[in-house]
Amino acid sequence: MANVAVIGAQWGDEGKGKVVDWLSNRAEVVVRFQGGHNAGHTLVVGDRVYKLSLLPSGVVQGKRSVIGSGVVVDPWALLDEIARVGAQGVAVTPDLLTLADNASLILPLHRDLDGAREAQAGAGRIGTTGRGIGPAYEDKVGRRAVRVADLADPQALEARITRLLAHHGALRRGLDLPEVDGEALKRDLLELAPKVLPFARPAWRVLQADVRAGRRILFEGAQGTLLDVDHGTYPYVTSSNTVAGQAAAGAGVGPEAVGFVLGIVKAYTTRVGEGPFPTELFDENGRRLGERGREFGTVTGRQRRCGWFDAVLVRQALAISGAHGVALTKLDVLDGFERLMVCTGYRLGPDLLDHLPAGMSAQAAVEPVYEVLEGWGESTAGGRSWRDLPAAAVKYVRRLEELIEAPVVILSTSPERDDVILVRDPFQG
Ligand code: IMP
Repeated sequence: MANVAVIGAQWGDEGKGKVVDWLSNRAEVVVRFQGGHNAGHTLVVGDRVYKLSLLPSGVVQGKRSVIGSGVVVDPWALLDEIARVGAQGVAVTPDLLTLADNASLILPLHRDLDGAREAQAGAGRIGTTGRGIGPAYEDKVGRRAVRVADLADPQALEARITRLLAHHGALRRGLDLPEVDGEALKRDLLELAPKVLPFARPAWRVLQADVRAGRRILFEGAQGTLLDVDHGTYPYVTSSNTVAGQAAAGAGVGPEAVGFVLGIVKAYTTRVGEGPFPTELFDENGRRLGERGREFGTVTGRQRRCGWFDAVLVRQALAISGAHGVALTKLDVLDGFERLMVCTGYRLGPDLLDHLPAGMSAQAAVEPVYEVLEGWGESTAGGRSWRDLPAAAVKYVRRLEELIEAPVVILSTSPERDDVILVRDPFQG
C-alpha cells in the first residue's frame, strides 16, 4: 500500500479538487504541504458544493487533515473557512485538523504589500490572487516571519513583530502605505490565538506516527508545476515549490513516504493571471473551452485563459515530479469539437524545442507545433468505463499518454464524485 501525492501538472485549476476528494475516500490522512489560501478546490458531493482554500480536502469526509509547515497560513482566513464549512455541517475540530506549529503566518500587512506591488507594477504585474502569499513567503525565507507557535508566547510574538515591522516600515514608506500599528497587530493576534492554538502541534510527529502505523496518507498539492517558483514560468509564478519533492519538505516526512506521484492533467490548458501561454486561443475555440469548462477562478472569480493541450509542458512537469501516472480531467469539455490540436513541440526561431526554455523572452516567443487529432460528436460526460467513450476520445487519451510519457490511471468524466474510470488505484502503488 502506497501513499499518494497529487500535484498539478499545468498552471493549476486542473481539477485537483475532485480527484483529491475521490482519493480522500481511500485515504486516512490528508496533508497540504505548500501554498496557502490562494488555492481554490471545489468539491461537488451530491447536491452540495464545498469551496476550500486552505483546509485539506479530506475534512469534508471527516478524514484527519494536516496543514504542514510548507503552507503559509492566514489565521483569519483559516477560522473563516472552518466556520464556513461548519455552517455546511462539516465540524472541523482539533481532533480532525492539525496545524503545523512551525508554519509561517500571512498577516494583513502581507496582503497590503501584495496589492500595492501589483498596483504599482501596472502592465508588469503578476496577476496574483492578492492573498499576500508572495510577501509571506519572502518573510519566511527572510527569517522574520511570525509563526503559529509564536501565538502561544506573547514575549516572542512581540519580538517577532518588532523585527518584522522594522522591515515592512521601510517598504511601506516606499509604497505610500500607512504605518502598521504593532501594538494593535499584537493584540489582534493574541485575541485569535485561543481559537488557533488548539489545532497547533508538531505536524511531523503526527505524520511520523501515521507513517509508522502504515496509514494511507494523501499529500494534496495546490497550484501547478508551471506556477512553481523554480520550475514554472518565472516570474509569473506563485512563491512556493508546487512539485512532488515539496510534499516531503512541506509536510515533514522523508521522501520515501511520499509514495505514488499522481499528476493531475486537464484535457486542454488554462491559466489565470499573467505570463506566457504558448497554446492560448483567442478565437471561438478558446471561448468555447472557457464556456463549456466553466473556466472561472474559484478564489478570485477571474476568467481563465484557455488553449489547446500542451504535451511539451505536461511531459516536462511530470518528469520534474517523477510522476508515476496521471489523472486526466475534463475530457467531456472537448465533446463536440470537430478537430483537436495538441502541441508536440515548440519552434523558437530556427530551432525546434522539445521543452520549455527557462528564459523569459524565449518563453514568450516559442510557437507551438501542433498535431491535429480527430474530435468526437458523442458525449463522454459521466462515462464510467472505456466502453462508454467514443473511439476517437479513447484515441485522444492514448495519444496524450504517448506524448506525455505517462499512463492515465484515472479518467474523470464529470464534476460528480463517482464519474471516473479507474485504470489503476494509486494507493495500490
Ligand atoms: P499568488 O500565488 O497569489 O502569488 O499568485 C501568483 C500566480 O499564481 C498568479 O498567476 C495566480 O493567478 C496563480 N495562482 C495562485 N494560486 C492559484 C491556484 O490555486 N490556481 C491557479 N492559479 C493560481
